[in-house]
Amino acid sequence: MNQPITSKINNKGHLEVGGCDLVGLAAEFGTPLYVIDETTVRSRCREYKTAFKNRYDNSQVIYACKALCNTAIVKIMNNEGLGLDVSSGGELYTAKKANCNLNSVYFHGNNKSKKELEEAVEWGAGRIVVDNFDELRNLDEITKKLGKKIDILFRINPGIEAHTHEFIQTGRIDSKFGISKEKAAEAAGLTRKMTYVNYLGLHAHIGSQIFEVSPYLAEIEILGRLADQIRTETGLKTEEIDIGGGLGIDYSGADEAPSIDSFAERTVSHFIKTCKEFKLNDPKLILEPGRSVIGTAGVTVYTIGMVKDIPGVRKYAAVDGGMSDNPRPILYDAKYDALLANRARETKKEKVTIAGRFCESGDKLIKDIELPEVKVGDILAVFGTGAYNYSMASNYNRVGRPAMVLVNNGIPTLILKRESYDDLILNDVVI
Ligand SMILES: Cc1ncc(COP(=O)(O)O)c(C=O)c1O
Repeated sequence: MNQPITSKINNKGHLEVGGCDLVGLAAEFGTPLYVIDETTVRSRCREYKTAFKNRYDNSQVIYACKALCNTAIVKIMNNEGLGLDVSSGGELYTAKKANCNLNSVYFHGNNKSKKELEEAVEWGAGRIVVDNFDELRNLDEITKKLGKKIDILFRINPGIEAHTHEFIQTGRIDSKFGISKEKAAEAAGLTRKMTYVNYLGLHAHIGSQIFEVSPYLAEIEILGRLADQIRTETGLKTEEIDIGGGLGIDYSGADEAPSIDSFAERTVSHFIKTCKEFKLNDPKLILEPGRSVIGTAGVTVYTIGMVKDIPGVRKYAAVDGGMSDNPRPILYDAKYDALLANRARETKKEKVTIAGRFCESGDKLIKDIELPEVKVGDILAVFGTGAYNYSMASNYNRVGRPAMVLVNNGIPTLILKRESYDDLILNDVVI
């Protein structure tokens, strides 16, 4: 399923999400428009929580804000009882302004600035996931200066290659992220001499858009073994093991991502077995999904503004957005699926390439998709755009980022305003 769970075609033949007609939303809020289905988001949160809690009580799901972060979204996650994985001062600030429980915040990043670390300690972020020795030294200094304690996990590079696109692999030996397995015990040992820095556990993240569970099992084993080694070499107990995010979703309608339940079944049973093997005393199991919580909840609605047929070559239809609101196709050659929201029941008739409006010939959202005959003015709904679209969006060509509405029970709520021309020049000093 690559559409929100509330997605249906209404009696006008229009696509509806969260009880809202997408053609109506396009008229009311303009296009491009990010639409997020609240029911899908909340049900994914609950699925994750139940699947893990029912199998292992000492588990916690934290939402990876990098997938989609704004005050409305983090409030929903907080309300569903998920913690938050933040990777910048900006994401942390968003969580703070949204009155989220900062004690359940895990602060990631391979080069957090001293200012960001200070803010995290001052504002009471629950954990800092320390990426490297320089950061550990900075944190020692900062906590001494502030006289405040902080719990930390170490990000370990487990050296695992998950099967996914090369640019989004982060767990390989050749990675900018994390401390090598060989240095983990040394890093943990250093905290023994630190008054305010408290070693709590280990973290790894092996990639994104992963369809196989076996790399996670290998990762759990590596982290379990390291926890054992750290206890032997330093006497420190590992109380938390965070296995990261990365579970894939179905973008094309034909991808076979594991269900959350089957993912939980295999990871939890292996986690319990590993803890027994290494005599770890029921550490907290943390996982930090982003895409698989928010991805399919999102649909982007565009208006077709140009149709061009190059006989014998290709037919193009251009939308009023593209690589600035969804950079994934140009970055990763990511695939998407779409429907004409205003003629959702019509039979597919032709192959067309959906181009964006930006000054890059590579700005194509979907290559060769089957659609009914596309006309200027049609409303196109692209599925699976909840994750890494708005959060990776830019103002390329000085185009404002789209608005975002949260839909639920027929009510659309504007949660992000469309950026205006004035927003675009807000920080221009010379006027
Ligand atoms: C450390 C960390 N945790 C969690 C995630 C979330 O991954 P995903 O959105 O694929 O679940 C990422 C994404 O790259 C990450 O780097």
